[in-house]
Amino acid sequence: MTAQLEVRDLAVRYGQALAVRGVSFGIERGETLAVVGANGGGKSSLGKAVARLVGSTGDVLLDGTPVPRTAVAAVGAGVVYVPEGRMVFTQLSVADNLRAGAFSVRRKHDWEARRATLYERLPRLAERASVRAGLLSGGEQQLLAIGRALMAFPSVLVLDEPSLGLSPSAVVTVTDFLREIQQEYDMTVLLLEQNAAFAAKLARRALVLELGVVREVVDAATLAEPAPVPADAESAERQ
Ligand SMILES: Nc1ncnc2c1ncn2[C@@H]1O[C@H](COP(=O)(O)OP(=O)(O)O)[C@@H](O)[C@H]1O
Ligand SMILES: [Mg+2]
Repeated sequence: MTAQLEVRDLAVRYGQALAVRGVSFGIERGETLAVVGANGGGKSSLGKAVARLVGSTGDVLLDGTPVPRTAVAAVGAGVVYVPEGRMVFTQLSVADNLRAGAFSVRRKHDWEARRATLYERLPRLAERASVRAGLLSGGEQQLLAIGRALMAFPSVLVLDEPSLGLSPSAVVTVTDFLREIQQEYDMTVLLLEQNAAFAAKLARRALVLELGVVREVVDAATLAEPAPVPADAESAERQ
């Protein structure tokens, strides 16, 4: 089976510095692939390169067709990036933030219908449709940022640290919403996360990215397990 999203030998360079050094992977339709690793490892650079927000070398293919190298065309092709730190338009209302996400959607009927569906799913945002987004909580802003991306009818979502800085209860709300999206839209997701336990709740497979290189590909479930107790600590405990 060929992957819906295929990334081949992707590299991102900032001046002399190589942030992503030849990364390759595929994601099946409806699959969530996590990319985990410490701060500075290259997760955001990788995600932005896939969404064509930074320059890169290598190939990004969606259903076998190269994703155009400009960001607006990439959205049109179906790849949408949800930025780290949410980046909602704080001065705009919730409704207008969602509207902005649909800039690539021609027919008013289509984006209005999608917005209505999102409001059904996220009643808290529906209640606050005319409120300025800057007044929402962090968790609500994250839901809005994801909702804004869904307004473009993406086939691939790139989520950059969706759990970062959220309260434990907000993390649960965001997790539940992402699970609904996975199922309802059969969404293909590239999930960039420092929080391995959160990644394990949504993904089956994870790439561990270190200094721009894929160190290993792991079963995401192993990320949620506590670190193994060293053998000598265990025997000390028994004594
Ligand atoms: N716009 C930029 N200009 C120069 N260097 C950058 C830029 N963005 C990121 N970097 C560098 O690229 C490396 C990877 O960063 P990043 O992709 O943000 O990693 P992560 O998202 O895993 O924290 C880091 O060393 C970072 O300092
Ligand atoms: Mg990052």
